[in-house]
Amino acid sequence: MRKKIVAGNWKMNTSIAEGVELAKAIVAKVNEVPQGVSLIVAPPFTHLTSVAKVLEGSPVALSAQNCADQPKGAFTGEVAASMLKDAGCAYTILGHSERREYYGETAEKLITKIALAFENGLKVIYCVGEKLAEREEGNHFDVVSEQIASVLFGLTPEQMKKVVIAYEPVWAIGTGVTATAAQAQEMHAFIRETLGTHFGEKVAQETTILYGGSCKPSNAQELFACPDIDGGLIGGASLKADDFIAIAKSY
Ligand code: PGA
Repeated sequence: MRKKIVAGNWKMNTSIAEGVELAKAIVAKVNEVPQGVSLIVAPPFTHLTSVAKVLEGSPVALSAQNCADQPKGAFTGEVAASMLKDAGCAYTILGHSERREYYGETAEKLITKIALAFENGLKVIYCVGEKLAEREEGNHFDVVSEQIASVLFGLTPEQMKKVVIAYEPVWAIGTGVTATAAQAQEMHAFIRETLGTHFGEKVAQETTILYGGSCKPSNAQELFACPDIDGGLIGGASLKADDFIAIAKSY
């Protein structure tokens, strides 16, 4: 059985106090979430230690949204994977389309970041997804397979156990336009097949693949019912505990 995950990507939202309240509200309702569905929250860096205290003793795991591509030293403004581990993170998101688009995150950098995350005991939520024009040109499968091959194919099958993939079509992120369940399932099946060609069927079947992009309580059930969709990476709707929990309850 693949692990089912619903993860909240808070992006650059909430004050620390608001983030703590949000985490408390999620922890208070975690019992409502079906067995076998794991929750993760990814607050901004400044909130991590405060949120970690709230999550202590609960099954909700903590994730960062990014990490540095250097282990430590004179890299002003960066936060190292070791620091994230120290702050209580179990995961870091890497390769989010906003980071690829606005902060020049390349495959080369992502390979280094993943290695540093692993060295420091972090698991990785690795994001992939095509832009609207790429889908309209019919290139979406090529774009996603390239994002997977260029960054993940250097890993061992053992390391792949520490990777969760999030398929997030860029045109669906924060736009209110969700991929249809059929579009999402088609891409998830393709991602699994792509993993299978390189790593073999076992890794392909065991890798958790999340859907992200305007996932909300009203559409989560249909998406999560698809055989290759193992949960969601939730942006906007993860900022309200009730919505986040309702999404997790869609299983
Ligand atoms: P959204 O964001 O749910 O607000 O579309 C998802 C994401 O970018 O992770």
